[in-house]
Amino acid sequence: MSDVDWARIFDRSFTEQSRSTRQRVWREVYGQDYAEHAEPYSYVSRTELEQFAEHLQIRPSDTFVDLGCGRGGPGLLVALRTGARLIGLDISAVALADAEQRAEKFGLAGRADFRRGGFAATGLADSRVHAVMSVDALTFALNKQQALTEMARILAPGGRLVFTSWDYKRTPDNRPPQVQDHRPLLERAGFHVLAYKETIDWKHRWQATSHGMITRRDELIEELGEERADATIAELQRQLDNQLPLATRRILVIATRR
Ligand SMILES: C[S@@+](CC[C@H](N)C(=O)[O-])C[C@H]1O[C@@H](n2cnc3c(N)ncnc32)[C@H](O)[C@@H]1O
Repeated sequence: MSDVDWARIFDRSFTEQSRSTRQRVWREVYGQDYAEHAEPYSYVSRTELEQFAEHLQIRPSDTFVDLGCGRGGPGLLVALRTGARLIGLDISAVALADAEQRAEKFGLAGRADFRRGGFAATGLADSRVHAVMSVDALTFALNKQQALTEMARILAPGGRLVFTSWDYKRTPDNRPPQVQDHRPLLERAGFHVLAYKETIDWKHRWQATSHGMITRRDELIEELGEERADATIAELQRQLDNQLPLATRRILVIATRR
């Protein structure tokens, strides 16, 4: 999987994906727990974003990173909630351009900085930030041990890492190597794990959102055209068939840099 160009894949999926059908489906499945304003490209919920804001333990004078920030919404909501400065990093230029616009819309342009950067190399100095968050993105890191070590490097001692991702019983096709348990990697990287929780309703949310999209083919065709609609449906079905059965849990992790 190391020869796969994930930046290209994500640039394409951020350019071509459904937005309105997706939002309708997520609203239906998540109800009150849908983080509508964040427009996440992930399974993060409102409740989880509140947990991020609480457990990152940051103050208005602090700086935090959202690694794999996508279109920026989740990190921006945490910035609004905490008053802290945000550095959003992602490998997708398309997502970052969208994130910058969203920062303007949220009135956070002066307090949020979106840059190209990834799990392998953030481009940030040692101990530069007070906290790191990441939403459903670590699963795409080519080397999770290296990614966690990079997060530890940029974090000031005592700083918090909060992230969501998945444990897998084995690596599905078309994914970088996955792990059964992130805790040994976290400890080796220099973190002390404070909480390692399975997130609420994760499997149902994955299934129900995928089915919701798959059964709205007509709406997807109207939004994307037939070819892209069918490609979207085929990809979702492939994930349901090949990835979901190998995922053992979606986790929310809270750790401190030792
Ligand atoms: C499922 S999306 C989640 C985006 C965002 N966190 C959210 O909740 O909306 C995964 C994100 O990880 C980014 N990504 C993939 N590989 C990455 C890497 N090696 N370093 C940083 N970001 C990466 C993708 O570009 C994408 O924006």
